Amino acid sequence: MRVASKRVCAEGIAAFDLVSLDGSDLPAFTAGSHIDVFLPGKLTRQYSLRNDPSERHRYAIGVLREPMGRGGSAYMHERLAAGDTIETSLPRNAFELDETAPFSLLVAGGIGVTPIIAMAYRLNALGHDFAFHYCARDAKRMAFRDELQASPFADKVYFHLDDGPAEQILDLGNLLARRPAGGHLYACGPSGFLDVIVAKAKATWPAEAVHREYFANISTPPATGDMPFTVKLARDGRSFEIAPGRSIVEVLAENGFLVPVSCEQGICGTCVTRVVSGEVDHRDLVLTDKQRADHITLCCSRAQTDELVLDL
Ligand code: FES
Repeated sequence: MRVASKRVCAEGIAAFDLVSLDGSDLPAFTAGSHIDVFLPGKLTRQYSLRNDPSERHRYAIGVLREPMGRGGSAYMHERLAAGDTIETSLPRNAFELDETAPFSLLVAGGIGVTPIIAMAYRLNALGHDFAFHYCARDAKRMAFRDELQASPFADKVYFHLDDGPAEQILDLGNLLARRPAGGHLYACGPSGFLDVIVAKAKATWPAEAVHREYFANISTPPATGDMPFTVKLARDGRSFEIAPGRSIVEVLAENGFLVPVSCEQGICGTCVTRVVSGEVDHRDLVLTDKQRADHITLCCSRAQTDELVLDL
């Protein structure tokens, strides 16, 4: 991909437009999708596509500079420039819209607004009813406000600043106390913000109508206290011991069995695999409760039973 443009659009946030090297159309994507961006030093980062999914000429991403990160966002902010080339994956979607819902409630915190913007474009194109609440700490950190105010769905966007007047602060309890008939809720933002939303939605929104996407998994407990277990590959026939502190993907890779991975934090869904038998100790933030019944993220989750049998 070529970086067609780069601009600072809020404090600590840069917006990039990526286009194909030969100017041809890009593979289509659906609202809520992200791409992996492959950076020097074998760093891979996931960024949600924020532009209108009907566009084929660009993938538009927004990158928050994370001072405590491992260098991916610093590279994007400091080194990557318009005209540079960069390698990315094809778009993948672990945060899909239910396009049959008559009403969608979109709630974004900070840079979590990026997939939500793409969802708003899609819902607007479908002619579906929705409301879009966008929270940020202050006006300086609120990226893409101009774009949203100029969008065809500007009348459905509500801006909330933590340091603004009390009457515009988002009252999540009130917002989530009632579920419009058939409504689905989509939330993306920092983990604390999402945890509050999920907790408040629990009483009135069924689990299958609540969709959320985290941008970093800080919930994975430390390895201390982990127990060893065995993974058996049902189709391959081999079994491997997973010691405390080792992940299933690491052990499989050492033994020549490569499972595709990307985030390695349980947030992107790349390594999701079907479980044939055994109880999973889920440590991801991507699987729904329904998926958890018989799937596992091999990059971070472990077993509650002595053995897990995987469909590999
Ligand atoms: Fe992203 Fe496992 S690699 S969830």
